[in-house]
Amino acid sequence: MKIACLGGGPAGLYFGISMKLRDPNHEIVVVERNRPYDTFGWGVVFSDQTMENLRLNDPKTADAILAEFAHWDDIDIHFKGECVTSTGHGFAGIGRKRMLNILQDRAQELGIELIFEQEVDGVDAYKDYDLIVASDGLNSKIRSANPEAFQPDIDTRPNKFIWLGTKKKYDAFTFIFEETEHGWIWVHAYKFDADTSTFIVECTEKTWRGLGLDKADTEQSIAICEEIFKDYLDCNALMSNARHLRGSAWLNFPRINCGTYHHDNVVLMGDAAHTAHFSIGSGTKLALEDAIVLADLLHSEDSMEAAFTQYQEARRLEVLKLQSAARNSMEWFEELERYTHFDPPQFAYSLLTRSQRVSHENLRLRDKEWLTSVERWFAGKSAAGVTANTAANDVPPPMFTPFRLRQMDVMNRIVVSPMATYSATDGIPNDFHLVHLGARAQGGAGLVFTEMTCVTPAGRITPGCPGLYSDEQEAAWKRIVDYTHQWSGAKIAMQLGHSGPKGSTKIGWEGMDQPLDEDGDEGNWELLAPSPVPWSPNNQTPREMTEADMDDVEAAFVQAVERADRCGFDMVEMHAAHGYLLSAFLTPLTNKRVDEYGGLLENRLRFPLRVFAAMRAAWPSDKPMSVRISANDWVGEEGITPDDAVEIARAFKQAGADIIDVSAGQTSIQAKPVYGRMFQTPFSDRIRNEAGIATMAVGNIFEVDHVNSILAAGRADLCCLARPHLADPYWTLHAAAEQGYQGAAWPNQYLPGRDQYERNLARAADMAIQV
Ligand SMILES: Cc1cc2nc3c(=O)[nH]c(=O)nc-3n(C[C@H](O)[C@H](O)[C@H](O)COP(=O)(O)OP(=O)(O)OC[C@H]3O[C@@H](n4cnc5c(N)ncnc54)[C@H](O)[C@@H]3O)c2cc1C
Ligand SMILES: Cc1cc2nc3c(=O)[nH]c(=O)nc-3n(C[C@H](O)[C@H](O)[C@H](O)COP(=O)(O)O)c2cc1C
Repeated sequence: MKIACLGGGPAGLYFGISMKLRDPNHEIVVVERNRPYDTFGWGVVFSDQTMENLRLNDPKTADAILAEFAHWDDIDIHFKGECVTSTGHGFAGIGRKRMLNILQDRAQELGIELIFEQEVDGVDAYKDYDLIVASDGLNSKIRSANPEAFQPDIDTRPNKFIWLGTKKKYDAFTFIFEETEHGWIWVHAYKFDADTSTFIVECTEKTWRGLGLDKADTEQSIAICEEIFKDYLDCNALMSNARHLRGSAWLNFPRINCGTYHHDNVVLMGDAAHTAHFSIGSGTKLALEDAIVLADLLHSEDSMEAAFTQYQEARRLEVLKLQSAARNSMEWFEELERYTHFDPPQFAYSLLTRSQRVSHENLRLRDKEWLTSVERWFAGKSAAGVTANTAANDVPPPMFTPFRLRQMDVMNRIVVSPMATYSATDGIPNDFHLVHLGARAQGGAGLVFTEMTCVTPAGRITPGCPGLYSDEQEAAWKRIVDYTHQWSGAKIAMQLGHSGPKGSTKIGWEGMDQPLDEDGDEGNWELLAPSPVPWSPNNQTPREMTEADMDDVEAAFVQAVERADRCGFDMVEMHAAHGYLLSAFLTPLTNKRVDEYGGLLENRLRFPLRVFAAMRAAWPSDKPMSVRISANDWVGEEGITPDDAVEIARAFKQAGADIIDVSAGQTSIQAKPVYGRMFQTPFSDRIRNEAGIATMAVGNIFEVDHVNSILAAGRADLCCLARPHLADPYWTLHAAAEQGYQGAAWPNQYLPGRDQYERNLARAADMAIQV
């Protein structure tokens, strides 16, 4: 094959090498505009896994790179005058220039022609080549010349950064966060050879303008950065080698992924095809692995077209995975000021777990001592003190630290999320509810929620939903509350709601959100809603509420709250999520009113806030209240967005809410949720750290590690688990045993079971080690 690699960065050079290794008869040229020793950028880092891939492809290049590696294990985080050091992170770095020279030497040795100082203006001059590789980097001219073919999706991010170097040797991977009068500015630095370090400075655009960096040339920018970070530079200068950049050397990172990686005989590779944010340092890895994969496929597939198709499939998937981790990391830096109120240990923990690829237990493996210090700090912060059920000198995992809201102390951070069981008759909870909730209270969770309990008969979702509007219901609930208090250490919260437009439907397993059969026992009942907008074309059109309806609903909530207090509930939650009545007021998707209850968010909040204020006034001031909201309608700007959710949380905080239960969705059949592990936790994080109110996170949190990571990183104060508690009422006790934590509240009656369970876990762990 006659191959032209246009752009002599890692992608172009390594692809040439990989092809020659597979067949020395290929005729390959690499065209590069720079001189061989002239490159931008400083160091790059690689993981052990990337090095292993390189070794399998070409041991010689891998050895040459390895011989030049600077290794380090520690991460130093300088924040608020403290340096937090955590170890065991295992990185290796090499100078970009050195790496390119190794690749150039190897390419020449294999007979590849290298042409330097030649600008490529397009593919036309390379028409007689069988294969053209567009390896011309993130500003690829070849990609830009044909956007219809390559369909680039380019998202230019808001932060500013500059890639500098310095002779100051940072032996650890070093983050430095400095507060200036114009906001925070920070550095990602590490040593990549015997005497040079990479020094990337990053800040928001606001800070960048405030510091005058928008008007500064490279020299002036360097002077400003040297002054800001002088305490960390030991009189060493900062250096730039970004001569290829015209004007400012400050950049905005473009996240790029192309819809198509190939067109005719042209294939995109490396940054030309996709990018990964520098804060997870994987761009070079992607470029090199692209090269290996395509070289393999071109030698195993029957045609170039088939190889291209498979290359695109394999690499796009890999890129999407990496970009998802990179997005979390990048957004953490973009939203940095959300976290700067944290104490240094939590700030460092949040930074280290930002991509959600490193979890609590990963950190324990890397640096047990440091993680224990964070756990000790976390336990110390816990408002109610940590002595309750903690053995002396035993630091509890975050999930087993107590938490206080007003005068309610919960013994740990696990919450049994509200879950409809559709098993009541005439709204009266029965033995099923007693056994169901009782078992979950005995299962060790700190707080157990009732399912959505309705404030009027017509406010029920289904005929099987419980209520709290009659004396009989009140007595039945009191029995459950008394049981919980007498036989477990759990607190119990009542979730009160009104179904609104989603009412009068079948019980869950007979047809979720489906209207009742007209000829059934109950028939359908009239629905109330802010506006006559049916939940779906199958559901009834609700009646638009009048002022009198609002008064009635408000009064019903208040009466239910008074009953909940008489039952002895420890907390009450107002359900304003998932498209039910109060949620239907909040979202513009179902609130089409033109009076003072519709329109702007401030108006849409008016009725839910009014109900909340009335409930708060009726609920004892020493008992806490929560509000469950849908923090994202998942329909884009047309519905509630996470930005709106922060405003909603602020409004309820002001009205006296103690905690926001941060759910999402179920407000529209048009919603397009993005599922994944802990997928709603980012909304909780935003609300907690921007609105300054405690939060409960919920949604696909199912592992011990998820819970500890969420809590220690300050993304929520409590974690609600719903489906895991349907599968395992003893989830919390099992989690304690898994972590070797002795302080969990096993019922005395079950202690022999605990002993055996723990022994079996220990035995299974031993056997796993032996295998
Ligand atoms: C601040 C920063 C820090 C980074 N840190 C890391 C890290 O630690 N680890 C990591 O793996 N990655 C890191 N990266 C990413 C990494 O630099 C890129 O992902 C990687 O270089 C991609 O390789 P490439 O060959 O595709 O593109 P490039 O390295 O950009 O190479 C493209 C080459 O094409 C040449 N070229 C471009 N246009 C033309 C033209 N018209 N004619 C002729 N030649 C042309 C360029 O001169 C260049 O040599 C970082 C990036 C930045 C911005
Ligand atoms: C069977 C079932 C019933 C539910 N009923 C309610 C409810 O009554 N009130 C409520 O706010 N959420 C309800 N939810 C939502 C859960 O509380 C929780 O937010 C959701 O299941 C996501 O958590 P998970 O991933 O841990 O299951 C219900 C969920 C399930 C699975």
